[in-house]
Amino acid sequence: MTAQAQRPINVAQTRDAVPISSRVHWIGALDPTLRTFDIILKTANGTTYNAYLVRGQDGVAVIDTVKEKFSDEFFQRLESVANYDDIRVIVLNHLEPDHTGALPELMRRAPHARLYISHKAQRMLKGLLKQESFDFTPVTTNDTVSLGDCTLRFLNTPYLHWPDTQCTYLEEEAILFSGDAFGCHFCDPRLFNDLVGDFRFSFEYYYAHIMRPFREHVLAALELIEPLHLKIIAPTHGPILRDQPARYVARFRELTEPRLKKESTDKTLLVFYLSSYGNTAKMAEAVYAGASEIEGVRVSLYDLEGGAVEPFVDLIEDAEGIALGTPTINGDATKAMWDLLSSLVVINLQGKVGAVFGSYGWSGEAVGMLEDRLRGLKVRVPVPGIRVKLIPTEEELEACRQFGRQLAEIMTDKQKPKVIDFEDL
Ligand SMILES: Cc1cc2nc3c(=O)[nH]c(=O)nc-3n(C[C@H](O)[C@H](O)[C@H](O)COP(=O)(O)O)c2cc1C
Repeated sequence: MTAQAQRPINVAQTRDAVPISSRVHWIGALDPTLRTFDIILKTANGTTYNAYLVRGQDGVAVIDTVKEKFSDEFFQRLESVANYDDIRVIVLNHLEPDHTGALPELMRRAPHARLYISHKAQRMLKGLLKQESFDFTPVTTNDTVSLGDCTLRFLNTPYLHWPDTQCTYLEEEAILFSGDAFGCHFCDPRLFNDLVGDFRFSFEYYYAHIMRPFREHVLAALELIEPLHLKIIAPTHGPILRDQPARYVARFRELTEPRLKKESTDKTLLVFYLSSYGNTAKMAEAVYAGASEIEGVRVSLYDLEGGAVEPFVDLIEDAEGIALGTPTINGDATKAMWDLLSSLVVINLQGKVGAVFGSYGWSGEAVGMLEDRLRGLKVRVPVPGIRVKLIPTEEELEACRQFGRQLAEIMTDKQKPKVIDFEDL
């Protein structure tokens, strides 16, 4: 790191571009008053929209832009180090509006620029720009663009965190422009990770809410990123990671590991229930008892009346099956069940087994509603749910035990889910 790069800076006091290496400048914007991002994310001290400018012998590349509202700041920083006529390349690593807001105006101002986006971004670009259309070149892993003495190489990293996302690697400077990956909502005008305040919480929080739902895609991206020689990671939000960038890549690898390590080779079935008069509770105990008879399945029973649902997210991520028991209340399933299911959007549920049961008084909509939601979350629902009118009889409890056995057998491959073949009817 050079002495110049280490000097404390405060980008809030200037509209100049900030050098991050001999060929690269930061030309982004600060948004220090933001407290909620994209509706779902809280931020304690705002965010930054990071955009970068690369100067090569044969011209200039701009990598990402900013949210439209911050265009003036972006253009002022850009103009402090480049002329629009010199811009040959514009790369969008991610098309979300906080990075493409200034794109239409930039394309108008830079007549010789060509736009480079991922293949999956093509249709998204149409959806975003509506009225305007620009020529572009779709790129994928190992495609390159040369600026004479330096080369931008693209890495196709879809779903980090939209389908269109990619990273761009500046080979000669070993800088990875990583889009939203390795980013976080943290606004500190000192800009570089070795100068800003402690942003570990924001980094972890951002991963948990934005990257964690796409764990498989993060793993695929890491296969491309880990072999790279990295001097700097330049994400689209938060500090620029020039001090020990590999540490953040390693942290991503760690974060893709399941939070709870499996304690045994047994499959795990989690039975959750809520019950006002004890009817669904009796059914839950019967489901639990039936499933427990099957070897190779560890079954747990949880009453959701006990409190918050968040602690169960990690457990569910680690489990092979979940069974949900709820009464029908006012034509719906109970709120705690919906809370549990909505808290699962941060994990991948594909391939898990799900099942629903519950007591009802007259209409009994809850079981079907939760089954639909489970399917919507890509959970397999191989056994039709059980509904019991009011107090379960001994016969009905036996059906619940059988329901539990059946689930456990499917989870341990002792039983294949029944497929109705119309040819046999
Ligand atoms: C406030 C309230 C609203 C209810 N609404 C419905 C309803 O819309 N449809 C229905 O089938 N049963 C309804 N029920 C009946 C319950 O589903 C029924 O009493 C069930 O057996 C309760 O099971 P539990 O003991 O597991 O809570 C309602 C019960 C209560 C107390």
